[in-house]
Amino acid sequence: MTASPAPPGPSSWIRRVRDLAREREAVLLAHNYQRPEVQEAADFVGDSLELSRKAAGVEGRVIVFCGVRFMAETAALLAPDKTVLLPDEGAGCPMADMLEAEDLVEWKKQYPGRPVVLYVNTSAAAKAEADLCCTSANADAVVASLPEEEILFGPDKNLAAWTQRRTAKRIIAWDGWCHVHQGILPRDVAAARTRHPGAVLWAHPECRPEVLDLADRVLSTGGMVREAAASAAADVIIATECGMLHRLRRDHPDKRFFPVKENALCPNMKKVTLPKIAVALETMAPRVTVPPEIAARARRAIERMIRL
Ligand code: 13P
Ligand code: SF4
Repeated sequence: MTASPAPPGPSSWIRRVRDLAREREAVLLAHNYQRPEVQEAADFVGDSLELSRKAAGVEGRVIVFCGVRFMAETAALLAPDKTVLLPDEGAGCPMADMLEAEDLVEWKKQYPGRPVVLYVNTSAAAKAEADLCCTSANADAVVASLPEEEILFGPDKNLAAWTQRRTAKRIIAWDGWCHVHQGILPRDVAAARTRHPGAVLWAHPECRPEVLDLADRVLSTGGMVREAAASAAADVIIATECGMLHRLRRDHPDKRFFPVKENALCPNMKKVTLPKIAVALETMAPRVTVPPEIAARARRAIERMIRL
């Protein structure tokens, strides 16, 4: 495979990436927070749960994961026969780094007998110490599926608090958070509501409880996509990472979607670019792999979630 000179604009880069994907028999999976041009180049765009499901059943030999490392690791766990590429090796998730496997081992010792529900925003090594994974789309169902009355839940304290509101069980939460969602404040909601009177507000459950209190709906990113198709609302304020706006605006040109604040951006999600995807496909690197002894245990926790 020979590298051609860099094409000039996004549409040429999209063509270049699509050509390379065809040559490599690669499937491009992109998270809803990816750059617009990356979403346009992808075969499938979705939330964490949808992308996990997709990775588990994908055709082709290669998965190019346009997202952050924990998502690519999950794809590697669910599709062990595929080569998984993460176009920027440094695309991590600071919230995932807040609960390492060693922390979890110590935490479990403090609460013997309690099952651990781990948000997918964690390393494979941490997942290997968990009983069951969840995403923001299924945390309620995952918690309800467990017979125990007390559950350890990490790393996101906001998703834990949101889940706690709708279960009689006791959720013991790790003190982690997403800096993008934690940075959305009630005063941002108030200002957005003043700018867009009459608009409804949908918030991601990684937002603070005080922000969720002000939302009309609390939804995962995939939930926002589905709600946009089902809802009669013409104007919607979105309280999550701004990449979400591209998908919603493209799918629903008849509606208006506004960011709750302009700079709710995840720098890690934005590290993936079309030129980096092209290089990844040309060089088949950087690859994401999970050591077999971790993979077997981490896969169990994810597959248990997918079966639900
Ligand atoms: P979703 O599962 O809703 O796509 O969220 C993933 C994420 O990283 C949110 O910050
Ligand atoms: Fe992690 Fe937050 Fe970025 Fe999602 S938006 S990948 S939780 S830092």
